[in-house]
Amino acid sequence: MCGIVGYIGKKESLPILIDGLKRLEYRGYDSAGIAIQNGAIQNYKSVGKIDQLEKKIKGIDLFGNLGIAHTRWATHGAPSEENAHPHCDCEGKIWIVHNGIIENYQKIKEELQIEGHVFASETDSEVVAHLIEKFYKGNLLEAVRLTLGEIIGAYSLVVFHKDEPGKMVAAKKGSPLVLGLADDGIIVASDVTAIIRQTRNVIYLEDGEIAFFENENFKILNFNNEEKEKETQKIEWSLEELEKKGYSHFMLKEIFEQPNCIIDSLRGRLIPSEGKAKLGGLDDDVKNLSEIDNLAMVSCGTAHYASLIGEYMLEEYADIPSKASVASEFRYRKQLLNKNTAVLALSQSGETADTLAAIVEANDKNIFTLGIVNTVGSSIARATKAGVYNHIGPEIAVASTKAFTSQVTILTLLTLFLGRMKNMSLATGERIIKELNKLPSQIEKILKNEDEIKRIAQKYYKVSNFAFLGRKYNYPVALEGALKLKEVSYIHAEGFESGEIKHGPLALIDENFPSFFIIPQDSVYEKNLSNVQEIKARGGKVIAIATEGDEEIEKIVDDVIYIPKTLEMLTPILSVIPLQLFAYYVACLNGRDVDKPRNLAKSVTVE
Ligand code: AGP
Repeated sequence: MCGIVGYIGKKESLPILIDGLKRLEYRGYDSAGIAIQNGAIQNYKSVGKIDQLEKKIKGIDLFGNLGIAHTRWATHGAPSEENAHPHCDCEGKIWIVHNGIIENYQKIKEELQIEGHVFASETDSEVVAHLIEKFYKGNLLEAVRLTLGEIIGAYSLVVFHKDEPGKMVAAKKGSPLVLGLADDGIIVASDVTAIIRQTRNVIYLEDGEIAFFENENFKILNFNNEEKEKETQKIEWSLEELEKKGYSHFMLKEIFEQPNCIIDSLRGRLIPSEGKAKLGGLDDDVKNLSEIDNLAMVSCGTAHYASLIGEYMLEEYADIPSKASVASEFRYRKQLLNKNTAVLALSQSGETADTLAAIVEANDKNIFTLGIVNTVGSSIARATKAGVYNHIGPEIAVASTKAFTSQVTILTLLTLFLGRMKNMSLATGERIIKELNKLPSQIEKILKNEDEIKRIAQKYYKVSNFAFLGRKYNYPVALEGALKLKEVSYIHAEGFESGEIKHGPLALIDENFPSFFIIPQDSVYEKNLSNVQEIKARGGKVIAIATEGDEEIEKIVDDVIYIPKTLEMLTPILSVIPLQLFAYYVACLNGRDVDKPRNLAKSVTVE
């Protein structure tokens, strides 16, 4: 939810910290702050985005080779300078940045206040600084260790003490934290995007680990002070992938990356001659997977809509009963899971707290867990027993686009992988593979129609409400299209099963309440056509997403965006593209901050 960065080494820390914060802004950006140790402590905070902090420190001689910084997405306490991190103890000697939630902070705060500690903020994080002060007897590492024993909740944190120059401590439990090993120092950050300009060599901290830094040396310990050997990983993502490549926004760049993302998601994973999928991350668990008789999928937001599509395809093509649940609901229901159940998490960031918590609970019940995750080495990737990476590069825009189409693609691969172990014929497998291989060029074709979609956005960008409708495989696309529009343009939008329109939502429809209707020529086309008529009969405007060559539909609706013909199960990968572009252009026309919409964060790492 927040982004944290720390640096210790030979270089000046300021430019490294500011650059790291900018790379992490997508994690949350309602306030930011920095603290640098150079004998004295220099600390500055600001409300708003990182450029507000830069303005504040412009011209100030901020120097020191040890520093910490933070960009915040408020959970406890409104966005303000007082609540911005870094936070310090009563004497201004101990400085911390924190990402996560301290669940027992009120109790700790009350006890510390009774002991005379004075708090400057409403945040939960500040209790960490005062607890370390309470336990500090000249050894920062020991004081941090004792502090961690008192707090309940999720945290990644970085700490330094004025009286211990050249030393820094970091700790992780439940929120991500990664070390970047550069030639001239070490960067600690919430994720690799803040590190990649300095180094590609990284170490991911696991829950329960503490990193202790002394100048350029470091060691990693568990909470019992036992030293741990850790593997260094090399990040392949080039910095260029993080840049916008000439697009106005990351969201547009990522929409246009989708043809290549499908290619990357499929790369090395198809065996056309056998009509099968090859998923290296599942190879060690083929026996487990062959015995699955039901699949529980857990995810949030866009990932949940992708998993709803997975429900249909796994049942239709792999004869596996599947249920897609929103992770924050899954966790609180009595789950009838048995040893032949598998729990599958879908997550782009691999850090979504509710999804991670659902996986941890399934692991605790010895249920087999697997993941479809985009971020290598992320918490969910490491918590699941097996999985498949998307391999689509970082998704920076808060609004998820390329992750959705990649998730549906990989769910298709999983369906193929499991289906061919069960009753799926070679011919069906070959047909699916053939259609999968056409998708990149088909998406390219839709993207070439960008101007038509922009024209339609110009017709409708002033409306206040929008309905999205679809059936079967395209009902989740209606939900996703509505989410895209509302999250980037702030226009109210709602997705419906088109068969449900007459059970209530039709009351909403009039000439000021337009509808997107996803109506490819599939097994439910005729049913959808009736629903389109019902809307038109009430004066509702309809924009149809239809199959190329369908001349019937254009006689009935107000606008048509055509998509190429493909297998019904694959239409969502095509029908969602116009909806992504429509949402993007409507948001731009309304002057929204497309990549960082208000109130939202890219990775929701708190429950
Ligand atoms: C989608 O556009 C949103 N940004 C949000 O719903 C997102 O899909 C959800 O938070 C899940 O994120 P994850 O895939 O990283 O777990």
